[in-house]
Amino acid sequence: MSGEPTFEIAMTVNGVRRSARAPARRLLSDFLRHDLGLTGTHVGCEHGVCGCCTVLMDGEPVRSCLTFAVTATGHEITTVEGLASEDGELSPVQRAFQECHGLQCGFCTPGFLCTVTALLRDNPRPTDEEVLEGISGNLCRCTGYQNIVKSVHRAADLIAESGETP
Ligand code: FES
Ligand code: FES
Repeated sequence: MSGEPTFEIAMTVNGVRRSARAPARRLLSDFLRHDLGLTGTHVGCEHGVCGCCTVLMDGEPVRSCLTFAVTATGHEITTVEGLASEDGELSPVQRAFQECHGLQCGFCTPGFLCTVTALLRDNPRPTDEEVLEGISGNLCRCTGYQNIVKSVHRAADLIAESGETP
């Protein structure tokens, strides 16, 4: 809409201070993808069901399609682009998904990776049931979930072996 007021919206994304002007109604998912160019966060249903758009806000998973960008002002956001280390080495969760074929088309994967990163930080040795509960807000149309559950357990092993953070 022309003439719609915009606001300077600033937050820390993947450890870097980022800001852009956007209308108050801009969703965090659109802010990340369109205003900041971070297209790793995927958007599926756009109404809070599929979990594809999950990012971490101050370490906690949030659905960025249900979050206004302005409400993330001053917070720390982690997207899938921020999970690998600075030298590009994949995080243990990313390595486990790769190793255990926890993805097929990959559309849901950024959301799963963020969700699982937080899950293993809070519960380093989840049972199958706890994994299923933990990923219950993320939908995958391809994998049948079995390899995703395997990936979560493998990530827990990798973290325990290496002492890395998720
Ligand atoms: S796109 Fe956000 S939950 Fe589906
Ligand atoms: S890998 Fe295709 S939707 Fe999950």
